[in-house]
Amino acid sequence: MNNRDCITGKSLSRNDLIELLSLENPEEIEQLRKNAENILLSERGNQVYFRGLIEFSNICRNDCYYCGIRKSNNKVKRYSLSEKQVVDAALWCAKQGYGSIVLQSGERNDSEFVDTVERLVYVIKEKTVSAQLPDGLGITLCVGEHTFETYKRFFAAGAHRYLLRIETSSEDLFSRLHPQTQKIQSRIDCLKYLKEIGYFVGTGVMIGMPGQTIESLADDILFFKKTGVDMIGMGPYIPHSDTPLGEKEPSGYNNLLLSLKMIAVTRLVLKDINIAATTALQALKHNGRELGLRFGANVVMPQLTPKEVRKEYMLYDGKPCTEESRDDCSVCLKKRILSTGRIISLNNWGDRVRMGNDQP
Ligand code: 5AD
Repeated sequence: MNNRDCITGKSLSRNDLIELLSLENPEEIEQLRKNAENILLSERGNQVYFRGLIEFSNICRNDCYYCGIRKSNNKVKRYSLSEKQVVDAALWCAKQGYGSIVLQSGERNDSEFVDTVERLVYVIKEKTVSAQLPDGLGITLCVGEHTFETYKRFFAAGAHRYLLRIETSSEDLFSRLHPQTQKIQSRIDCLKYLKEIGYFVGTGVMIGMPGQTIESLADDILFFKKTGVDMIGMGPYIPHSDTPLGEKEPSGYNNLLLSLKMIAVTRLVLKDINIAATTALQALKHNGRELGLRFGANVVMPQLTPKEVRKEYMLYDGKPCTEESRDDCSVCLKKRILSTGRIISLNNWGDRVRMGNDQP
């Protein structure tokens, strides 16, 4: 497969994906980037959508070997924001014209947690209906694995998008990243439930983990395609020193470059989906998120988590933007986006438009 031909619409084989992800020559990588950017511009235009990110609790029942807020990390001070703090952040977001929020937290499945999330969604919806946003803020949930019934309750309360990263589509690697109690099949089942209920569904992976291969990343892209996702949030793996994986030898990949190639190749395969330029890109390079946009991403997630608790949501070492206020983040991100020649779409949910045959 010639890199120059990959824009022609021919469907890419697994070998093509491996070849593209393995590119090292800067000119060829630039060609890949341009192809991805051109596809994005022709399929979706040059708008960038905001999703205000509210990390409302770092309490987690899981013990993922890579994650800084894993249950066993007792150096973390655990917090849960009050309903007022979350709703205030959402209202600030609506006032800025961001259009959408993501409510993210560590994973809990007790009934108090489920009730809290349901209520948050309901209250935020109710309070953000306006002339600019006739259906209120678009709400994405990112609160982990739940039962079909729980997902239905969240949907009925008004959440219409759900993000659940598969982390890797390789069963073998997944089992080396998580304790025995966490199963890849259970996540796959959850993604199925979410689609069936009617959510816009997002997933994603970490890129450049110890033991991960280019072949496995190519399979991840094929997994996104097979699952029929509407959105992708993926980024570089970055070690956290208080985790078991953080002590392992690094993979040896340039995780920033590999993540940018993943974004571009995913855009070539899934032309019209939403792809986020995630914060982790910026942890590796000051302009990492802008690079993400230039390689085919079209969504950014400004930080709305109150400053007092941001440092307690350290998924990996060196997470950026923990000192800035909401206003700082807003001004900074707008500048960053405009520097890439794109425009910011305000008061807009910015969903992918589904075609007839990919309705859930
Ligand atoms: N490096 C990069 N991303 C991480 N995440 C968790 N730990 C790390 C890490 N060490 C990501 C996971 C999770 C999301 C909320 O954060 O992909 O799904």
